[in-house]
Amino acid sequence: PTPSRNGRPGIRARELPWRTGPGSAQVPDPYRVWLAEIMLQQTTVEAAKEPFLRFVGRWPSVEALASAATDEVMAAWSGLGYYARARNLVACARAVTAAGGRFPQTVEELRALPGIGPYTAAAIAAIAFGAVTVPVDANLARVGARVFGIGSSGPRLHRDVGRALEAYVPADRPGDFAQALMDLGATICRPNAPACDQCPLAEGCVARLTSRTGELPVRLPRRLRPKRFGTVWWVEARGHVALVRRPPRGLLGGMLGLPGTPWMSEAVTALPFPGAWTWAQQPVVHGFTHFDLQLEVAAIRIDTEPQFGAGMLWVERDRIEGLPTVFAKAAAVGQGLAGNRRGQ
Ligand code: ADE
Repeated sequence: PTPSRNGRPGIRARELPWRTGPGSAQVPDPYRVWLAEIMLQQTTVEAAKEPFLRFVGRWPSVEALASAATDEVMAAWSGLGYYARARNLVACARAVTAAGGRFPQTVEELRALPGIGPYTAAAIAAIAFGAVTVPVDANLARVGARVFGIGSSGPRLHRDVGRALEAYVPADRPGDFAQALMDLGATICRPNAPACDQCPLAEGCVARLTSRTGELPVRLPRRLRPKRFGTVWWVEARGHVALVRRPPRGLLGGMLGLPGTPWMSEAVTALPFPGAWTWAQQPVVHGFTHFDLQLEVAAIRIDTEPQFGAGMLWVERDRIEGLPTVFAKAAAVGQGLAGNRRGQ
C-alpha cells in the first residue's frame, strides 16, 4: 500500500509547519522559510518544530521580529544553541525591514544578509522564490554520493553533488525538488541501513547497484575534538542565585550563565570564596562545535549574598530562564546539590 500524506496518495513529503506542501498553489511566506532555514542550520527538524511555532506565534512577520529587543529574541532562542544565529536573526530582520520589508529573491542578494551563507541562500531562493538552484546539505550530499556514485568527501562532495544535481532541477518546482531530496535523505536514504526497498531512486542508484551504500558517502577521518575543562558555581542566598552576563562577543556572547572559572585545556577546580561547598559527583558534559566541555559543578547555600566576582545578577532560584543549554544543565545539577542541603 502506498502511504498517503497531505491527503494525496503516493505523496510521502513530511508535513512541517514551515511548508505549504509539494505542488502547492499556495506560495510559502519567505519570512517563515527564512526563519525555518536559520533554525535548521544546526537543529534537527524534530527539535525545530516547537521553537518555529513559538517564534511565528510571537513574531508573525519580519517587521514584528525587527522591532523586538535583541535580548528578548536571544532568550526565546535558548535551547537552540549557536547564539550568534539569534543575534544575526534580528540583524537580518532589521536589514530586510529597513529595505522595505521584502526579502531579496536571488542567491547573491540573500547571501549578503546577516546569518545567510551559500547553503541557506540557495534553500530560501529555491523554496520561497522558485530559483533553479540546489541547496546541498548533509542529506543531499549523502543521497547524491550514493545515487551518482561520487567518491569525494567534505566540501568537495557538496560541490560535486550540486553540479551533478543541477541538470535534474525541474524549472517549475525547485523548492519541492530540494525538499523531496532532504526528506529522502532523512527518512529513506539514511546514514546507516538505508531503506532501498522503499526508495524511488533505487533503480538507478549507483551505490545500491554496486552494493556500496555502506561505503558512500566517503567519510572524512574524524578529527580528535579538543576537550576543555572548567568549574561553575551555584551560589544561592535567600532564594536567589548568582548569574553573570557573558561578554557580548565570542562563544555564548551576551547570554546569561553561571559564574565560574575560565575554560582551559586541563582540569580547573577553583572556588570563589571558602565555605561549605558541595561538589557534583559527575561533571556536566556539553559538545560545542569546536570542542567538548567538561564542567565541574560546586554549590553553596548561604544566608547573605557574598561579594565575589564582578557584576553578579541575583535571580530568584525558581525563576531562572533563558540560560543556554550548557548552563541550564549545570544549573539543574547545582539546584539539586543546594536543595539537598536544605534542613541541614
Ligand atoms: N533541512 C533544512 N531545510 C529543510 C527543509 N526545508 N525541510 C526539511 N529539512 C530541512
